[in-house]
Amino acid sequence: MSQYSAILGTGASLPRRAVSNQELTAFLAAKGVETSAEWIETRTGIQQRYICEPDETNSDMASKAALQALKAAGVLPDQVDLIVLATSTPDQVFPSTACAVQAQIGATHAMAFDIQAVCSGFVYALTVADSMIRAGQARNALVIGSEVFSRLMDWQDRTTCVLFGDGAGAVYLQGSDEPGILGCKLHSDGTLGCILNTTGRIEGGKIVGDPFLRMDGQAVFRQAVSVLGNSALELFEALNFKLEDLDFLVPHQANVRILHSVAKKLKLPEERVIMTVAQHGNTSAASVPLALNHAVAQKQIKKGDNVLLQGVGGGFTWGSVLVRM
Ligand code: UT7
Repeated sequence: MSQYSAILGTGASLPRRAVSNQELTAFLAAKGVETSAEWIETRTGIQQRYICEPDETNSDMASKAALQALKAAGVLPDQVDLIVLATSTPDQVFPSTACAVQAQIGATHAMAFDIQAVCSGFVYALTVADSMIRAGQARNALVIGSEVFSRLMDWQDRTTCVLFGDGAGAVYLQGSDEPGILGCKLHSDGTLGCILNTTGRIEGGKIVGDPFLRMDGQAVFRQAVSVLGNSALELFEALNFKLEDLDFLVPHQANVRILHSVAKKLKLPEERVIMTVAQHGNTSAASVPLALNHAVAQKQIKKGDNVLLQGVGGGFTWGSVLVRM
């Protein structure tokens, strides 16, 4: 059994089509929905998002991201023990998207399952995979966040449809005697389910309830700033870790104003906060691994850096994972 699990490779995949604020605004204007590229960028920091074409699927993106993470680690698909995939927009009700990825990449020896914790999904999945590796249930894991949130958008609702995008990110995690993941802490508050949800379900051959994403943006904003700051401090205290030893924060990418507020609360210089929301929009469970992969690819995050990964979103759910790269 390994004392730690360590991230040995990262990967990402985005849909073919990037949609700028200008393009989205023109598309919405044709539907009679009033917004502006300027409002979107000033209030959220988003400049563009990627949107899947009808032939692009969650599992296709997840498989590409997974193969890239394996390649970065120099590992073959049939060496993978475990696939944990975080998503709220699976290919289908069942089987899981993780099983579809297993089949697509040829991870013939892996066990595979999905986790649903909305925008906190990746930190939940990473915590589960880390625990399973340290408990001896698996020697290694592919941990994936992959979403097609564009398919939950009500294109008449300007308070949500300008915010979200599609994409996938992945890490390859392996048992290690050297630190790796230093600690994880997850939280949920189901009484806040009403501030961010998609309540529709399939019943009797029909969708019952609302098939679109609904959000009380201001309530989510307030919660996000509060819980992200507290969650970081709580984990640091539990691990006796000093804030000044943190090299980078990789938080869920929902709104640049949330990221600025969290950085301020933690007294963290903004150059140490990875921000990709301008390019990707909010990709829910994919946002943290997409941002991590971006920073690794840019050689901003390097081996040995202490990195805090943070998720927050529907449930309400939130959590932090501190990792030495
Ligand atoms: O992934 C899970 C986590 N999600 C989040 O963290 C999202 C958190 N929330 C937010 O990021 C922000 O609350 C939003 C970006 C959703 C909204 O920004 P805001 O600054 O809180 O705007 P607001 O809701 O206070 O609305 C301000 C105004 C309103 O008009 P009035 O009532 O002042 O006339 C809205 O109707 O902006 C209006 N508005 C828009 N105007 C143009 C809302 N959406 C739009 C839009 N274009 N797309």
